[in-house]
Amino acid sequence: MSEMDQRKNAVAQSPTNRDSFGSKLGVIAAAAGSAIGLGNIWKFPYMTGENGGAAFVLVYLVCIAIIGLPVMLSEFIIGRRGQKNAIGSFKKLAPGTPWFLTGWMGVVAAFMILSFYAVVAGWCMEYVFKSVTGGFAGLSPEEIGNVFGTFTSGVVRPIFWLTVFMALTGCIVYAGIKEGIEKYSKILMPLLLVIIIVLGIRAVTLPGAGAGLEFLFKPDFSKLSAKGVLLALGHAFFSLSLGMGTMITYGSYINKRENLGATTLQVTIADTAIALLAGIAIFPAVFAFNIDPASSVGLAFITLPNVFNQMPGGMFFGFLFFLLLSVAALTSAISILEVVVAYFSEELKMTRHKATWIATTVITIIGVFCSLSLGPMSEVLFFGRNFFGVMEWTSSNLLLPLGGLFITLFIGWYWGPKRTKEELSNEGTLAVPYLSLFMFVCKYIAPLAIFIVFLHGMGWLSWLPFLK
Ligand code: PFF
Repeated sequence: MSEMDQRKNAVAQSPTNRDSFGSKLGVIAAAAGSAIGLGNIWKFPYMTGENGGAAFVLVYLVCIAIIGLPVMLSEFIIGRRGQKNAIGSFKKLAPGTPWFLTGWMGVVAAFMILSFYAVVAGWCMEYVFKSVTGGFAGLSPEEIGNVFGTFTSGVVRPIFWLTVFMALTGCIVYAGIKEGIEKYSKILMPLLLVIIIVLGIRAVTLPGAGAGLEFLFKPDFSKLSAKGVLLALGHAFFSLSLGMGTMITYGSYINKRENLGATTLQVTIADTAIALLAGIAIFPAVFAFNIDPASSVGLAFITLPNVFNQMPGGMFFGFLFFLLLSVAALTSAISILEVVVAYFSEELKMTRHKATWIATTVITIIGVFCSLSLGPMSEVLFFGRNFFGVMEWTSSNLLLPLGGLFITLFIGWYWGPKRTKEELSNEGTLAVPYLSLFMFVCKYIAPLAIFIVFLHGMGWLSWLPFLK
């Protein structure tokens, strides 16, 4: 046997009794499932709407390429090398150092993100239900707005759907990596793709759809602000599930034979393609019916039901759209829950079942407070924000960027090119022509860019006139 074959065999047989992804397709489906979520289909379109359209999209694509790709690759390296959860992997790779605190921030962020994410996912499920039962039929735009306001500020229904959503998420995670996360991602992701393509075709074939496509693809830089640029970078993080150890945790389940560089590229392309497809499914329809695209958080829940009401076959397409959102949210939520479950089971030595049970229950309870803070508890404010706002703001503006910052610094300055190359080349069996570029970005470019986004997110750059 040649030396190369021996190495390949050693890599293939690396001992591990942890559960792991069973196939290349499974890895892609699960990681893309994590990345593709409400961020792509709900947030990205309304951010594009609010920040001027195509110019924002272009900046977002640049951010994905120069920051998103290296951070995701860094997370995969840490996870696969460490073979543990987000905290355990840092402890193993950098024993006796404080780097594991980065993993800690990730676990805290997971609790926070999932608690508000599940609330919004619950809204999507309510809207699936409403679309099927004709709940929007014959309503005026104003009435549709009221439906949303009354529902989200209520008590029983939003909490009911939040609980249903968390129960589904918990059941999938409970079943494990291969039999739960991988299996369901492989079913749900193709479903998502089919739905979004059907919706895209419906939207672009509406009379007057061209204006929407122009809005999405023809950049007008005069509409882009410096603030829009920073928002694009921050959103790249959220959309790719970066900065909180999700991809570290998933990376730890990736087989030693997989090509991490190629996997990162495929997942990133899939995430970006779905965000663009969501834009294609939404803006042509919005423009065809002469509705303002900059309708913020309400784009999916107020503007679109309005659009569906006026569209031929709208009830069916409305149903498909909210099903799409729910499915996308589910495959993301399982990845967030897995960060906590992996930590509980490996570091706190709980059984997987107990860990899932506890994590799901605790997050659901925090979620209940997020939901109530939009209604009966809306008067309870922390630093001027309701509880939902605190969870979202702290995780998106503080914990994710800081997590991303430390992850790239870890690879760039602590782990170094030699060990990075070992992991990326699968112990010398793959070529890594992009190594020096990757190390350079991890050392300087990404940390600097993320740091600026962080300062902006904290509101510490608001004295700059062009960021007002
Ligand atoms: N990437 C998901 C989305 O775009 O909806 C959200 C998300 C999932 C953020 C997992 C962070 C995370 F760890």
